[in-house]
Amino acid sequence: MKKLKIARPLIPNNKFMLTIATIAIALTGCTKKQAAELSPEPSGPEEVTVKNVSYTNFAKALFETKCSSCHTAGRPASARWEFNGYNSVKNHITRINNVVLVTKTMPIGGTLTAKEIELLDAWIKRNTPEN
Ligand code: HEC
Repeated sequence: MKKLKIARPLIPNNKFMLTIATIAIALTGCTKKQAAELSPEPSGPEEVTVKNVSYTNFAKALFETKCSSCHTAGRPASARWEFNGYNSVKNHITRINNVVLVTKTMPIGGTLTAKEIELLDAWIKRNTPEN
């Protein structure tokens, strides 16, 4: 209701200026997003969702933790598919999609959470963005 103060004829000049300044700050002040960029986020990195999921923010860690024990060079299943970075995933995404999301035969001896399955599926549907 500060705006109403402007209309009062007997308002002291400094208060009037303060009101104008307050309105100006409200109009030009930073948005929540800008504020988040300026200050280091106290609540950790931005949440990964089906809309922003990428190799960097999600898939890399998934393959590292759930697949690399068998699928990196020198490991038992590396002949079938060797995980060694983004291209090794992108170039075999059809087979990966098949064994993880369709037949669910991978990861052997482990499971993905419902959230991980949802994000992996979304990432593949978004055409596996790297960032
Ligand atoms: C405990 C070891 C192990 C883990 C962990 C594992 N795999 Fe495998 N993977 C294998 C083995 C063994 C084969 C060969 C299976 C076969 O020949 O039937 C294989 C085969 C594959 C293949 C080849 C399928 C094809 O079409 O030929 C892909 C792709 C694959 N795994 C992806 C993954 C992914 C992605 C993950 C992680 C989510 C994963 N694997 C986790 C052991 C593992």
